[in-house]
Amino acid sequence: MTRPTALLHDDALLDQTRRLAAAAGTELDEGTDQSTLRAAWHRAPLVLLDRVAADSCAGAALPRRPGVLLVAAGTPPACLWQLAVAIGAERVVSLPADETWLAGAFADATEAPARAVGRVLAVIGGRGGAGASVFAAAVALSALDSRANALLVDCDPTGGGLDLLLGAETDPGLRWPDLHLRAGRVPITSLHASLPGRSKGTARLTLLSATPDAPTPSPTAALSVVDSGRRAGETVICDLPRTPDPTATAVLAHADLTVVIVPADLRATAAARNLIASLTAQGITPALVVRDPTHLRPTDIAAALSLSLLTTYRHDPRLPTRIDEGTFRPRRSLARAAKTVLHALEKT
Ligand SMILES: Nc1ncnc2c1ncn2[C@@H]1O[C@H](COP(=O)(O)OP(=O)(O)OP(=O)(O)O)[C@@H](O)[C@H]1O
Ligand SMILES: [Mg+2]
Repeated sequence: MTRPTALLHDDALLDQTRRLAAAAGTELDEGTDQSTLRAAWHRAPLVLLDRVAADSCAGAALPRRPGVLLVAAGTPPACLWQLAVAIGAERVVSLPADETWLAGAFADATEAPARAVGRVLAVIGGRGGAGASVFAAAVALSALDSRANALLVDCDPTGGGLDLLLGAETDPGLRWPDLHLRAGRVPITSLHASLPGRSKGTARLTLLSATPDAPTPSPTAALSVVDSGRRAGETVICDLPRTPDPTATAVLAHADLTVVIVPADLRATAAARNLIASLTAQGITPALVVRDPTHLRPTDIAAALSLSLLTTYRHDPRLPTRIDEGTFRPRRSLARAAKTVLHALEKT
């Protein structure tokens, strides 16, 4: 999505904006609901909001980004300036007075479309021990297998460390507690140089693992890392704790796709219900991945949780041993499920 996105409820204002976009050789992606807003937020070069849309944007607690414009017909009311400050808008545009400026902004966006940015996946377990960390690692390794750069970010300080899953626990390089990030942008090259990883050809999987009992990274630190991977066009996979803390909540708001791993049994389904309710309250509709669909039918679990079923995978009795031996690779149904999630992520 590289076209400007407009969430404008007033038809006359929308018409005027469409004409300016057309004159600059582009078209608008249009919508009025929060899902359009979320989809646009990370990728559209410009996001145009009216007062109603800006209000709902403030309520959605989206991260700050450049290229957000608040648009008003005539003199903007005082509340629009307040909203501009609240959501960090770049400018309040008054039409028709600012027509020339807006046409120029559309032309800039068209001539220099946003470069291919990476996608961010959040993986979260529907119950403790659901298999979320294993699945996150499987997706990252699958991305590497298909020669894509991936950044696997451990956002669960209670999880024991993702480096154990990749057999990387003795690899040199930094873990979360040692990574002291300055404010501002983190170059991906610094992460490549300082973090452990795995390579295949020219592709690299970079791992930022937590260590047991270390404090949770701050939301700012986690988002700096996620944004670094995204800007560099990497596939960013975040392993999140089951009870989202402020860091996980911030990452969830940045994710293009959230998948919930639910083992196919009644208690796991019941436990997942609360998590899904809290995600839904944040405006996030996760996709469902069912592990070991032998006891209950995945479609029944999806119906019980009101989620769409993305994929399923089977229990692999040899997997725990492979993890302990440091030889874990996604195989068979886990590898297929990881690929399905990667494809779904690419399509977001
Ligand atoms: N596909 C699988 N087949 C067999 N065992 C698995 C599979 N996936 C995960 N496991 C096992 O389940 C256990 C929990 O997996 P994992 O740590 O990924 O779960 P989690 O949801 O991240 O748990 P936590 O709540 O601790 O974060 C591990 O011991 C792992 O070996
Ligand atoms: Mg885990």
